[in-house]
Amino acid sequence: MTFFIHTYGCQMNVRDSEAVAAELVRAGYARAPDEDSADLVVVNTCSVREKAEDKALGKLGLLCKSKRERPSRVVGVMGCMAQRMAESLFRRIPQLDFAVGSRAARHIPSIVGEIAAGATQVWFPGELSDFDVPHGHLPSGIAAFVTVLLGCNRRCSYCIVPDVRGPEHSRPAAEVIAEAKALVASGVREITLLGQSVLRYGRQGEDVWAGAAPSPMGFTEPFPRLLEALAAIPGLRRIRFTSGHPSGCTAELARAFRDLPQACRHLHLPVQSGSDRILREMRRGYTSGEYLAALERLRGAVPDISITTDIIVGYPGETEDDFEATRRLMRAARFDNSFIFKYSPRPGTPSAALVDDVTPEEKDRRNKVLLADQDELGLGNGGEWVGRETEVMAEGPSLRNKSRWSGRTSQNKIAVFDPPEGVRPGDLVRVRIVRANPQTLFGEDAAITGRAAAIGKEQK
Ligand code: 5AD
Ligand code: SF4
Repeated sequence: MTFFIHTYGCQMNVRDSEAVAAELVRAGYARAPDEDSADLVVVNTCSVREKAEDKALGKLGLLCKSKRERPSRVVGVMGCMAQRMAESLFRRIPQLDFAVGSRAARHIPSIVGEIAAGATQVWFPGELSDFDVPHGHLPSGIAAFVTVLLGCNRRCSYCIVPDVRGPEHSRPAAEVIAEAKALVASGVREITLLGQSVLRYGRQGEDVWAGAAPSPMGFTEPFPRLLEALAAIPGLRRIRFTSGHPSGCTAELARAFRDLPQACRHLHLPVQSGSDRILREMRRGYTSGEYLAALERLRGAVPDISITTDIIVGYPGETEDDFEATRRLMRAARFDNSFIFKYSPRPGTPSAALVDDVTPEEKDRRNKVLLADQDELGLGNGGEWVGRETEVMAEGPSLRNKSRWSGRTSQNKIAVFDPPEGVRPGDLVRVRIVRANPQTLFGEDAAITGRAAAIGKEQK
């Protein structure tokens, strides 16, 4: 039996899909090359905005229709929307075979077994307090995701995530480090640590460092300690993490960015609004001034750090003045990129009780204005890199022009360059940037600086 997982939503969902795929492979299922040929299709869903749910529902509808011609096909749903809609999904989509809660994905192989034995419409909610979730990996390229923090306790007024992903839980550091070591042994050179609010790692009262020696670099906060421990793994060249919250942008985090060469100089730090009144209503836990102070702390230690953000326009009661405050904050913060979202009320969240009073047209206008502002600021367009040298992790031949290679800079910018003799994926390459457009840096005189060392697979 072959399977395919269709993924919506954030990097956490990409990671969860991979872990479920690893469970299915372990249970004897084979990955299908594409959705059409798969006997089992699982849709991993997102609930963050209504539109994300509509897309997933549309997809599930089509998949279930395809069962008319292929009655033996199994269609299931996992992830945030499955958690939120639960059994009601079977009323909307009667042909759906199964749905699992967001912390119950490890049961998918056995549920598929039950369906093969005749069960229908299986709803397996699991417990949101469970933290026995799959962490397996499939053989991949040079980069991998590692979940360090499940769930979220922040409860921003607009956000469905605490309801659908459950309470915050940090994995023990030893477990995360062991997972990273195994990945490096399999050829991985870059890992991205994932958590809804990843800088809260180990701050919920869990003893993530139980029994461990003190940090050699003198870090006392759990997350910088984790970065330090991961940076000590031979062969792991880069560490990224997402997403941040200003409260986690401490002096220690700034020092970790500065002193750990493996810590990539990029942070996604959602701001959501520049209006202190709206930030308070959103229960974000900071003012625009505190947000900017967090940026200064990071930039003071690492001047070329790249900061990207998320902004919501049209939150209930957002006035023209509030919106103008967001525009001002955008100027002051000098983001490398901004993702703008139109507010979408999510059932059961505190702000869903408010009147969604900014019209769709006005949300649309504010969205466009912010996109134009970001463009006009011209930040993150790469111009500042022209004439400078930078380090790129080589990924492989560029999609557009196979004779050149592409990779990413520490700041997460795509760079294209002529491959130096003998370069391999995962090598660090020093490149002189000669040209830039908003999407890509173009480099010359590439030279290998750090080879993915002869470890793991390559040693055998
Ligand atoms: N409506 C619109 N955007 C939202 N986001 C989260 N909840 C909502 C909502 N109800 C945005 C935030 C978050 C990003 C992942 O999605 O900007 O950072
Ligand atoms: Fe990710 Fe949030 Fe969407 Fe869930 S609801 S998939 S956590 S973005």
